[in-house]
Parts: sequence; C-alpha cells; structure tokens
Amino acid sequence: MNKNIKIILWIIFIGLIALASYSLRPMKNIQNSEVENTVDINSDLIIVGFSQLGSESDWRTANTKSIQNALTKKNGFSLIFSNGRQSQENQIKDVRSFIFQEVDYIVIAPVTETGWDTVLKEAREAGIPVIIVDRMINTDDESLYVACVGTDKYAEGEKAGIWLEKYLEEQKSEENVTQENESLSEETASQEENGLNTEVINIVVLEGTPNSTAQIGRSKGFEDIARKHENWNILAQDSGDFTKAKGKEVMAKYLQEYDDIDILVSQNDDMTFGAIEAIQEAGLTCGVNGKIKVISFDAVSEAFDRMEDGLINVDIECNPLQGQLIAELIERLEKGKKVDKVSYVEEKVFKAENAGIERIGRSY
Ligand code: AHR
Repeated sequence: MNKNIKIILWIIFIGLIALASYSLRPMKNIQNSEVENTVDINSDLIIVGFSQLGSESDWRTANTKSIQNALTKKNGFSLIFSNGRQSQENQIKDVRSFIFQEVDYIVIAPVTETGWDTVLKEAREAGIPVIIVDRMINTDDESLYVACVGTDKYAEGEKAGIWLEKYLEEQKSEENVTQENESLSEETASQEENGLNTEVINIVVLEGTPNSTAQIGRSKGFEDIARKHENWNILAQDSGDFTKAKGKEVMAKYLQEYDDIDILVSQNDDMTFGAIEAIQEAGLTCGVNGKIKVISFDAVSEAFDRMEDGLINVDIECNPLQGQLIAELIERLEKGKKVDKVSYVEEKVFKAENAGIERIGRSY
C-alpha cells in the first residue's frame, strides 16, 4: 500500500471514531408533544422543562411565545416545551417526564389550582426547583415551589367591578344634568331604552375554566365589588372554558333565558369574541352604543380591534409577557440569590374611547 493511501485511510478511521463518540454521548430523551424533544446534557445550557397548560386562547399563544423567546439557547437556556392540552393529568405526566430527564428547572402554568402536591413532592425529592407561572396552585406547603410569576387575577376582577361602578355613576350624572335641563334628551331616552338607568342592573358572567386561578380570582374580585351594590343583579355565571366556541354557546343560552341583560362580564377575550357573535346573531347590539355593555379581560390585539369598533366597552389587561421575568428569576437562582416568592407583571385597564392610541407599540 503506498504511503498516501495509508494516510488517507488513517484520516477516515480517526474521523469515524470521532463521529461515533459524538453520537454515543449521553442524551436526554424527552417524550413531549411539541418543539424540542432531545436535550444535550453535556452542554452548559440551563435545561428548563416547561409544562404549558394548553393553547386555548390568543392570550395563551402570546404567553407561550414570550417564554420561548426568553428561554433561548442564545440566552443560555435549553427549553423543553410541553402542551398539556387543558388536562392536569397530561401536565402531571409532563412534569414526571422532566423529573426523569433530570432537568435543571421545572416551570408549570397550572390549568387548575388543586392536586399538585404529590408530583411537586417528587420534584422536590429530585432536587429540581419548580416555578409556577401565570396561574397559582393551592397548597399548604409553600416549599413545593421556589417562586410564582404571573398576574393578580383577583385585582383584575376588582378592576372590572370598579370600572362598572364608575361607568354607571357617569351615566347617572349625565342623566341628572339632562333632567335639570328640563327636557328628556334623545340621549337619555336611548340610555333608558338600553336599560342602564333603571334601578336594577342585570349582569351575566362568562367564567373561565372552573377552579383555575383566572376564574377564581376574577369571579371573586368582581363579586366583592358587586356585593356593595344592591341593585347589581348577577343573573348567571357559567363557564365558557376560555374558548371562543364555548363563549358563544353559553352567551346564546343566556340570551334565550334572559331578555333584559345590561352587562356582560366575560373573563377572557376569546369568549368575548364568541359572545359578540351570539349577540349579533340574536339581532341585538353591544358595546359603547349598544344594549349590552361588555367588560372583557386580557386585552389581546383583536380585542383592541373590537374596542375600536365600539363592540367592547373596556378590557382589563392580563399581561402574558412573563418570559423575561422567568429568565431573570432563574438567573438569580443560579447565582444563589434570593427571589421573591410571588412576582406580578404590570397591567392596565383599556377603555374603548382610548383603544386606538393605547394599542400603539403593543406586541400581542
Ligand atoms: O390564566 C390566564 C387566562 O388564561 C387568560 O385570561 C385566558 O385568556 C387564558 O386562557
């Protein structure tokens, strides 16, 4: 064999050995539904298993994107994403899979509040810190999670009630001014027609997924304000499960049952979009100049369109942009620094009259 051929064969041989040792290095196989399913444990990246509760709403899509955009390889993370498809059972399986794969952190957006203790104890025994995002869990043992990042859902519900208080007061004072001017103006006549100056204010509520923090907090926050007003009459509170289809279905049912609805409180925008369709299909009107006044939650981009159309009166923001806060929190934990047990992102209230201006610069 001539010398050159020998050298070439040696190069091929060494190349094959290098290739074999690379492909035989330890890998973690993660069985999950979406995005990445294999993680290289030899990298310096911080491995985060994220159990998202589902993909039921525009808000959820924005929340998922925010977390995926913050926990990138460029920022030092390897993110394993799992979609629980609205099932706690799926989410628990995902968490167990993360534990099995020895991830560095587990992030959970829990679909409902109760039933997490067992699997979180398993994570604690494995020494994996757990961060709860968006919604909360209900547990007596706070050591089961290191921190919670999300939004104050009770405050959101209160804000809805406070907006309604102010709105009704404004309507009343407008009516008084008009009456002082002696004649009943066309505006007042139309307000009376719309039922807002009558003694009783009839309210229907489209609630989110039962036993989720978003449903519990928003219902309680609003009810606590409503309780202060004897004339606020909550006619019905059924679940539309945070989806457009269910929101439409439940609203259509309300419209068949009650012909005197003044206010719709819809606990997320997707249900509101469905409810607006049901109202319009029933030949009724809603929003700023309509019969049924609409209070919504989330403030996603399409809701700003509907506010600009005058179909939603007010939207109580639930801020889905939580990824950056989660990344910062993990970085602090990595450095052994203390973190707040609960951190909330900032949120506003958007009224139809300012929607065109306030939406400028929003990313979702
Ligand atoms: O937990 C946040 C809520 O969940 C949002 O309001 C809703 O749109 C989502 O599905």
